[in-house]
Amino acid sequence: MNVASEPAPVAEDAAGRIERRWALVSTGIIGLLVFLATFAGARQASLPQARVETVDPRTLHVAGEFIETNLGSALEPDGSVTVRIVGQEYSFTPQCIVVPTDTLVTFRAASADVVHGFLIQSTNVNLMLVPGYVSTISARFVAPVESAMPCHEYCGSGHQAMWARVRVIDRNQFMKLAKEHRRVSCVAE
Ligand code: CUA
Repeated sequence: MNVASEPAPVAEDAAGRIERRWALVSTGIIGLLVFLATFAGARQASLPQARVETVDPRTLHVAGEFIETNLGSALEPDGSVTVRIVGQEYSFTPQCIVVPTDTLVTFRAASADVVHGFLIQSTNVNLMLVPGYVSTISARFVAPVESAMPCHEYCGSGHQAMWARVRVIDRNQFMKLAKEHRRVSCVAE
């Protein structure tokens, strides 16, 4: 009787060995991931930021680059276009942005309160607006199009209603508007 029940412990041992081996492998993988995350974080923290621009969110509307009259699209002396935008609960100012085709367009955006998202649909223009910092990204649009610009960071109860529009218009048409208006907007069009 004893002899007949002998093989069972042997099989359990083999299973236990395989299980322990796999536990070791998965622990090793977790250990490696923790090491990589720690190393990458520590390395990034030890390097200077490529470029950090700060801005006081409390005085955004009263002084400096992001006062309301300075928002929208501006033609620069070098022929490029700078777009300045403010995000706040729960809208963007301006609500509609006009940019030209075939031109270097630099977006400069700031938040007046909490973290907001900045995304132009169907493009790789994608930023986070963090209060206290100026977020910038450059883009070149190839063809006239109208895109939605939704906030894609949850910012409060009105988040889903926070979005604006970006209208890409022909370069010549834009340059004509830029001659007549200090800031080109959908209203000026
Ligand atoms: Cu602003 Cu979500």
